[in-house]
Amino acid sequence: MKKNENILSSKPVIDYDEKAPKINAQEFQKVIDSRRAVRIYDSTPIPEEVVMTCLHNALLAPNSSNLQPWELYWVKSPEKKKALVYACLNQIAAKTAAELFVVVARTDTWKLHAREMLRIFSKAKNVPEMAKKYYSQIVPFVYTQGPFSILGFLKRILFFLKGLKSPIVREPVQKSHLRLWAVKSTALAAENLMLSLRAYGFDSCPMEGYDSRRIKKLLNLGRNASVVMVISAGKRAPGGIYGERIRFDASRFIKKV
Ligand SMILES: Cc1cc2nc3c(=O)[nH]c(=O)nc-3n(C[C@H](O)[C@H](O)[C@H](O)COP(=O)(O)O)c2cc1C
Repeated sequence: MKKNENILSSKPVIDYDEKAPKINAQEFQKVIDSRRAVRIYDSTPIPEEVVMTCLHNALLAPNSSNLQPWELYWVKSPEKKKALVYACLNQIAAKTAAELFVVVARTDTWKLHAREMLRIFSKAKNVPEMAKKYYSQIVPFVYTQGPFSILGFLKRILFFLKGLKSPIVREPVQKSHLRLWAVKSTALAAENLMLSLRAYGFDSCPMEGYDSRRIKKLLNLGRNASVVMVISAGKRAPGGIYGERIRFDASRFIKKV
């Protein structure tokens, strides 16, 4: 690697190409426009294969370093479903839903998943050395925080000093950064799930009005798991959307700089 180059700035030698298929942009726009937070569902069930397709689509979301820090719980057991609705404060969006999903971010699976990447690489042809080095050396260095985040603290100092000279990735250097790291990617999976449900003719509601402690207990989740969202799904009932979509003027948010 030349001076001033890094693993992200230099092009690896790869013999691979993937053509972009033609997309019907109008149909995609329809999915985006018609995905609404649906609070009341009718009794239409969602076919199992549709649910599975949508869950698989969730897993196709882009994610940091492809370390896939998510878990998707499809809560099917009637007892667990009842407890989940209760933990969701008995929201109508949960009570009337055909299906309920708990979208979870994990900060403790990156090591295992880095090893999994290396295992897959070991069976693949022509994997650049750089990619192997990324998962065997850089990932452990970046994500390990150590007990009481001691390593994170030392890295913070190192990054500060190195950052005086040139741009450097400064996070994660504490457990809360790692949580944010996992939640970012997991939220994208949640969006994939909701857009897929819409594309297959169903509706959803993302929820964070819930008791996370009760949900974690219900799903046996430890302290390295964060409940990012509960997503209810089904077919919208008449009156199931509470009003026209409101968004503030785009100029408030879209900044051309
Ligand atoms: C992280 C998150 C949490 C939300 N929590 C709830 C909730 O607990 N209950 C609810 O009815 N809607 C919830 N919503 C839905 C929002 O209220 C809704 O997306 C927003 O009003 C915009 O409406 P739209 O999705 O129809 O465009 C949540 C949405 C997000 C993204």
